[in-house]
Amino acid sequence: DKKIFIAPAMNGRMWENQSNKENLKKLVDFGYEIIGPEAGDMACGEFGMGKMSEPATIINHINNYFKKLENNKKFKALVTAGPTHEYLDPVRFITNKSSGKQGYEIARSLIENGFDTTLISGPTNLSPVKGVNLIKIKSADEMLNATLSNLPTDVAIFSAAVADFKVKDKKSEKIKKNKFSELNLEKNTDILGHISNHNSLRPKLVVGFAAETTSLKNNSLKKLSEKNCDWIIANDVSRDDIGFESDFNQVSIFYKNNSEENLPRMRKSSLANEIVNRIISQLN
Ligand code: CTP
Repeated sequence: DKKIFIAPAMNGRMWENQSNKENLKKLVDFGYEIIGPEAGDMACGEFGMGKMSEPATIINHINNYFKKLENNKKFKALVTAGPTHEYLDPVRFITNKSSGKQGYEIARSLIENGFDTTLISGPTNLSPVKGVNLIKIKSADEMLNATLSNLPTDVAIFSAAVADFKVKDKKSEKIKKNKFSELNLEKNTDILGHISNHNSLRPKLVVGFAAETTSLKNNSLKKLSEKNCDWIIANDVSRDDIGFESDFNQVSIFYKNNSEENLPRMRKSSLANEIVNRIISQLN
């Protein structure tokens, strides 16, 4: 679905009204392109920011928008999202608090921008994103296999909170509580690290996430280099007002060239648009 909002003519003070500003921001959060308003003489006789854009400007803007979509259609994107479930037996598993929202929003923004998008998702409560090739998996091993079989792509965004460990000897019958001895754990493959460091199919642009509770910058820079990423998007998962289960996020982006961007707290949908805009600039 293409989302364009043509700002109607309104007095500048109406445009500046708080509720109007918030409504406009909502449209931006939903992924709308906004055309206008512009500064000029208004029908009420005043001069200010409230004039509807000229028809030629609107047509030009719409043409550019569709050109951008057409151009992005040549790009393939892969996104991992959500938690993984590592089963001990048929009814118990190891997992984490990831909701998958950020990854689903990134997939939504990619498809809205014309990318051929595959989303490999662990178990979540989220609805599929229209147009996105959704592959549902449960374990980290399944996520790794699904990722490998969907390469090559131009860009891969690894937003999944993959469980770091799995159980060595998963039981096919429910383990009786008096039979629980020690759990033998083994490390899951680092999907991002594996694809970025060892795979001939490494996407041109590899974006990792870092979920941290301490030393955000140092840990993120370590992941940037060890996992051979182009960018690491880092967030502090100890905060309740952003991250895992929230609709909001606040991140810093660490780039391979040592630069860093600190973005303000915003809706996950807006952050997804910000990330995808940067991906488009990088790929073009
Ligand atoms: N990741 C992955 N496969 C794993 C573990 C992590 O692809 N088995 C990816 C995540 O999707 C994310 C990045 O690696 O893009 C960092 O994940 P994070 O959980 O922050 O770090 P870990 O590598 O698990 O390290 P630690 O738990 O020690 O912080």
